[in-house]
Amino acid sequence: KTLKIAAIPGDGIGKEVVPAAIDVLNTISEIHGGLKFEFTEFPWSCEYYLEHGDMMPKDGLDILQSFDSIFLGAVGNQHLVPDHVSLWGLLIKIRREFEQTINIRPAKVIKGIRSPLLNPKDFDLIVVRENSEGEYSEIGGKIYRGEDEIAIQNAVFSRKGTERAMRYAFELASRRKKHVTSATKSNGIVYSMPFWDSVFKEVSKDYPDISTDHQHIDALSAFFVTQPDKFDVIVASNLFGDILTDLGAAIMGSIGIAPAANINVNGKYPSMFEPVHGSAPDIFGKGIANPMGQIWTAKMMLDHFGEEELGTTLLDVVESVTNDGFLTPDIGGQYTTKEVTDEIINRLKTF
Ligand code: NAI
Ligand code: MG
Repeated sequence: KTLKIAAIPGDGIGKEVVPAAIDVLNTISEIHGGLKFEFTEFPWSCEYYLEHGDMMPKDGLDILQSFDSIFLGAVGNQHLVPDHVSLWGLLIKIRREFEQTINIRPAKVIKGIRSPLLNPKDFDLIVVRENSEGEYSEIGGKIYRGEDEIAIQNAVFSRKGTERAMRYAFELASRRKKHVTSATKSNGIVYSMPFWDSVFKEVSKDYPDISTDHQHIDALSAFFVTQPDKFDVIVASNLFGDILTDLGAAIMGSIGIAPAANINVNGKYPSMFEPVHGSAPDIFGKGIANPMGQIWTAKMMLDHFGEEELGTTLLDVVESVTNDGFLTPDIGGQYTTKEVTDEIINRLKTF
């Protein structure tokens, strides 16, 4: 099997961690034999913008359409291009146009990395975030001025979009610990969240072997800190999922290790895999960016293509490396991007 992958390193440390993760994926392909990756690299970034007046070519999406997936580093360099221009011109454009309606982000205890939690339990959870509607809608407006000024923002919850996110969560849970938690707030939000609850109840009937519960988002956020080990899959709206996933990255110990996937569920367009972190201009060029987020993102891409065994092997090897103290400075170590990556590659070869 050959997978055609569009690699977009983007800006800042994306240029350091994407090549590292590509080396790792190529090593996996060497070991596996049957699995080949064909990477095509695109220089779309803020520097590209300065030269061409756009973050990607006019036919950029048509070009990406012919790939099996998109492997992205990070976008953003505020010295060159305002963030809203660079992110909306590339990252968010791809998410929207390619109907990547689900965002998934795992969070788990990684051996050798200290969680900031006082009493870190052995948690292993994954948040399924609705990625296209909900609270982040463009419906609303402003009226009046001065002290009478009013801003109105409407949330949009379609049955299709809500059900899609929930089914994705249940399917995922059926391959994990078989539990889905719904993030709700139907005690305070009286139209959208009771609707969310009723769709959750309906969908859950199709998955009798999966247990469920629902938690209000305020309490749920607290439980992420006090008892993250109680969770398996959490399904959340766009806003609630956004907040929960940053919290998920935080309790793992560093934003530099958190992975994410933007999934096109109907398979019409490629999905996009990108770590949670940004371009980290404060450390760019020093060679000390943590490559783990991008490498774990590569594992999610393997899982997505049904290569879950290889994905598990990859994360096991990464954990053996962190457990032995090969850590970048963001997680309290003194190793470089290259040293950590090389260690992962060497161990993969002898795994
Ligand atoms: P950031 O995630 O780039 O950096 C936040 C902090 O975490 C910094 O101190 C950075 O050094 C550290 N950090 C992040 N990733 C790391 C890694 N792999 N290894 C070690 N340390 C790491 O967020 P920030 O500073 O708010 O944004 C910088 C730029 O990135 C902005 O232009 C922003 O718009 C963009 N951005 C892009 C994202 C994307 O492409 N998905 C996501 C978040 C921000
Ligand atoms: Mg966020």
